[in-house]
Amino acid sequence: MQNKSTPASKVLDRVLVLEMVRVTEAAAIAASELIGRGDEKAADHAAVEAMRKAFDGLYMDGTVVIGEGERDEAPMLFIGEKVGGAPGSGPKIDIALDPLEGTTICAKAGPNSLAVLAAAEEGGLLNAPDVYMDKLAVGPGYPEGIISLDKSPTENVKAVAAAKGVEPGQINVCVLDRPRHEALIAELRALGCGVVLIGDGDVAGVIAVTDEDTTIDLYMGSGGAPEGVLAAAALRCVGGQFNGRLLFRNDDERGRARKWGIEDLDRIYKLEDLAKGDCIFAATGVTSGSLLDGVKRLKGGKMTTESVVMRASSGTVRWIKGEHRTR
Ligand code: FBP
Repeated sequence: MQNKSTPASKVLDRVLVLEMVRVTEAAAIAASELIGRGDEKAADHAAVEAMRKAFDGLYMDGTVVIGEGERDEAPMLFIGEKVGGAPGSGPKIDIALDPLEGTTICAKAGPNSLAVLAAAEEGGLLNAPDVYMDKLAVGPGYPEGIISLDKSPTENVKAVAAAKGVEPGQINVCVLDRPRHEALIAELRALGCGVVLIGDGDVAGVIAVTDEDTTIDLYMGSGGAPEGVLAAAALRCVGGQFNGRLLFRNDDERGRARKWGIEDLDRIYKLEDLAKGDCIFAATGVTSGSLLDGVKRLKGGKMTTESVVMRASSGTVRWIKGEHRTR
């Protein structure tokens, strides 16, 4: 047990890093009962309930800074909710979470739905409003500043291609398959790029740029801002570069951002602006995908899970295979 004077960074290190996996495992296992059942809400609800309960076992005074919505719209894991088994006495940790990232994927048994969370010392994670974010990511090993949302997609592709020593047409870009990305996709195809279209799940999409096996060089396009913070926490741990800019569709969304203390609405956020200091990223696969295998329910009540947990200050990445018995 940690005492009150333990620095938060040590707490992230010694107690919470591996424990976070129990939390994402619990959410993934609960959601997995509903894979392919066509019921997004039920799958999400099961994951939320299980994650909420699993947090109770952690010695921390946690606060949800990115969660299932605001207090009046989410019964559990709402923004500002206290989680953890030691409120008022444990180390103060901020949590960004998505108990089921890719609700539609899970409902349709598609690839890459995850139970995911990030944790940081108090104040370490951007309190991102639930609006869209324009996202741009590249994997590790490139000069700092090689990509920028101030440049066009063509300029970013050409810069990465030149640094990689290949033609722009040999660059693969992951993009969410949405009508709003029609012009982006056309621009990338005009360069000859491989465009890897994903139906949902841009946390895994962004992280894919860090894994050479995926052959994805860049991530481009807009998705949820909360998911942007989660992906940024992962990139803080494994390397890579990220730019994010909040996108607002109306004054209500602008107002919500201001409510969370965001003054410069056009700001381009880099990794450290989204997840600063020491942070942890943990995820368990619900359905199999580029990052993780999904939950497998086997004979005799046995289940297997695959998770990853990473920490920014050490850069350690642990892949954890779990075997669970229901009877
Ligand atoms: P949910 O888990 O909330 O369904 O989010 C899935 C997702 O694909 C995210 O990964 C992504 O950031 C966002 O939805 C994109 O939003 P939209 O579906 O409105 O384009």
